[in-house]
Amino acid sequence: MCGIIGIVGNQPVADRLIESLKRLEYRGYDSAGIAAQVDGVLERRRAPGKLKELEKVLAAQPLVATTGIGHTRWATHGAPTERNAHPHIAGRVAVVHNGIIENFAELKAELIAAGRTFSSDTDTEVVAHLLDSELATGLSPLEAFKATLDRLTGAFALCVLISGEDEVILAARNGPPLAVGHGDGEMFIGSDGLALGPFTNKITYLEDGDYVLATHAGARIFDASGSEVARAVKTVPASAVLMEKGNYRHFMEKEIHDQPEGCQHTIAAYVDTLTDRTRVEGIDFAGLERIQIVACGTSYIAGMIGRYLIESLADLPVDVEIASEFRYRNPSLRANALAIAMSQSGETADTLAAFRHCAQAGMKTAAIVNATESTIAREADVVWPIHCGPEIGVASTKAFTAQVSVMIAIAIAAAKARGRIDGAEEQRLVRVLLGAPRLIAEAIGLEGAIKDIAAEIAKARDVLYLGRGPMSALALEGALKLKEISYIHAEGYAAGELKHGPIALVDEATPIIILAPYDSWFEKSASNMSEVMARGGQVVFITDPEGARHAPAGAKVVVTAPGCDPLISALVMSAPIQLLAYHVAVVKGADVDQPRNLAKSVTVE
Ligand code: F6R
Repeated sequence: MCGIIGIVGNQPVADRLIESLKRLEYRGYDSAGIAAQVDGVLERRRAPGKLKELEKVLAAQPLVATTGIGHTRWATHGAPTERNAHPHIAGRVAVVHNGIIENFAELKAELIAAGRTFSSDTDTEVVAHLLDSELATGLSPLEAFKATLDRLTGAFALCVLISGEDEVILAARNGPPLAVGHGDGEMFIGSDGLALGPFTNKITYLEDGDYVLATHAGARIFDASGSEVARAVKTVPASAVLMEKGNYRHFMEKEIHDQPEGCQHTIAAYVDTLTDRTRVEGIDFAGLERIQIVACGTSYIAGMIGRYLIESLADLPVDVEIASEFRYRNPSLRANALAIAMSQSGETADTLAAFRHCAQAGMKTAAIVNATESTIAREADVVWPIHCGPEIGVASTKAFTAQVSVMIAIAIAAAKARGRIDGAEEQRLVRVLLGAPRLIAEAIGLEGAIKDIAAEIAKARDVLYLGRGPMSALALEGALKLKEISYIHAEGYAAGELKHGPIALVDEATPIIILAPYDSWFEKSASNMSEVMARGGQVVFITDPEGARHAPAGAKVVVTAPGCDPLISALVMSAPIQLLAYHVAVVKGADVDQPRNLAKSVTVE
């Protein structure tokens, strides 16, 4: 959720910390701050709000040093004010933190009883006080840090400066990810590899429980027991260019337009284009009894689309569940099932916990992730990356269609492995999938028409999205996209559910977006459209050329997406709903890439 960065460097550190924080801002943007030592004294600059507020503060009061730490916050404990902004300082210690210190209340009470005064409402500040207390007993920085870590429970990544220890940074990982970057006589610590991209591509990903002493000479890494350990240094592809918006106004807009190419990369990883066969390795689908997908948010919706495809093509039962529910309800699990964690970040706390629950029950595990060095990826038996590159816009677009692309490849591979389709049908379906990027590009070409509709939708208070089959899941995604970036109340429903309650919401002021390609559900969706219009509902009918020909008269607008095989309709129909949400948010002047209260990587429960 929060992003943290630490640099033991040879160059002025403030601009470098800011550069890195820009890459971490997707993790939260409630406040930002940096700290450094100036002549052996800890100094910090902090500001509530987005990073640009901190940049203003730094312009007025520069911080001149070469070693420092920085933070961008997604608030958990304490309002998003300056006093709660990180870094937190107590005595000789400055600390930045991602995660939650679960036992902070008892530690705080103990520290207050010992005479300590707190200046924030955060859980983080206890870490600074604890470490400062340990240092005061005469322990070395490393010993004091270890003693502090041993007192903390919860999920956290920490980065620490100690006054008088000018060229040292201490860091620790217990849950949320942390990466160590190796420079030339410089060391870097960051919440992810992306944050370290401007400085180095040589990265060590810490294991859970690891802590680090970083100096100009290198990084000494210790495991939870305190033993010094060697961790691999990986060379990661340079990703700087992927952070640019190019000529687009927002990352989300760019990422919508990136989808044809993104999906092409994804699909190329799971099919053999010479033979038109699938290439989904690591699992024997023939012997599998069922699949359990656990996920949150948009990833959960990608899993729902997967369920439709896998069950209908491969006759393989699939359960999809919201991870935060699954993990606490004692689900009945079977060992001969495959657990799939669907998580772009690979770090979502609930998904990780649900996934571990499945692994403990003896299930084989697979991870469908964008971040291949993430915790979920590293714990899985099999990793199926989505290969779409970093997604910066908080509202997911290209990662969603990449996840759906992987689900389609799995559905075809499972169907073939289970004898539900023959080789010729596998090849036909693979060719359909290979054609998806071109059709997504065509659907993106509807942008002009969608922009016009957006101006109307932007006036609405509530919007309903309806669909059947995979389109019922996409209706949820349409509603989620609209509410997260434009703050308009929106609901997605399986269209058949309409008359069991939601139809009461329908009036002249409620736009109803119906997703209905001309598939086996079309006639039913068209009937639902008539029911809505009979009650004054203003229908935006998103369909394909055949559906447009058969649509009941009376829709306010008909959007005609390219026609396609039902196998890929969720991919093709995604573009119109993403563009609609995007343009509504633009009309409303909302902060598209950084919507309020949200963060890209949710590493707290
Ligand atoms: C919404 C969105 C979120 C994420 C959810 C899970 O646009 O992106 O709903 O899908 O927070 O995140 P991951 O996929 O990283 O587990």
